[in-house]
Amino acid sequence: MVDTGVDKNRRRVLIAATSVVGAAGVAAIATPFLSSWSPSARALAAGAPVEVPVGKVEPGQQIRVIWRGKPVWIVNRTEEMLAGLPSNDGNLKDPNSDDIKQQPEYAKNPARTREGKEKYLVLVGICTHLGCSPTYRPELSPADLGADWKGGWYCPCHGSRFDLAGRVFKNVPAGANLQVPPYYFKDDNTVLIGEDGGKA
Ligand code: FES
Repeated sequence: MVDTGVDKNRRRVLIAATSVVGAAGVAAIATPFLSSWSPSARALAAGAPVEVPVGKVEPGQQIRVIWRGKPVWIVNRTEEMLAGLPSNDGNLKDPNSDDIKQQPEYAKNPARTREGKEKYLVLVGICTHLGCSPTYRPELSPADLGADWKGGWYCPCHGSRFDLAGRVFKNVPAGANLQVPPYYFKDDNTVLIGEDGGKA
């Protein structure tokens, strides 16, 4: 069980960081781009799977890698973030991930992840409306997103919103949840993006 007191403190740090940036007009949290973890450019162009160490990803942090030329995000969700997901269900277009194109069968569950690894969300970082890259907004109730906002992604192009499982909200232009790519854990701290590990 994660110490929720620690989580809350970390969340506050994230919120504080966002507020500072937000004052400058762009409320976004820096997302490390882990190009050094990718295989060679030639292998990437051929669509090779990408191996990503996730053991040092902080609770609440998002990292980004490139797989098949697309951005892929990995977020280490806190227990607080996971606990907030069900309360979004009534405001979502596809709360149960019924659109089977948007995730492998093993990720058709409330967390949209591999069983036993619910805290690590893996998503293709491309808006399902017209392909912009949404902004990670993990903070609670920011002024521009409203009191009900429990964290997720906001697309700056036309205002689509997604929750912390990548599920799309109602009344926005995007029609589908963000896509979960094929992936599996090679070991406790290593994700391989692009393969199912024989358990598709
Ligand atoms: S491309 Fe994201 S809302 Fe239009």
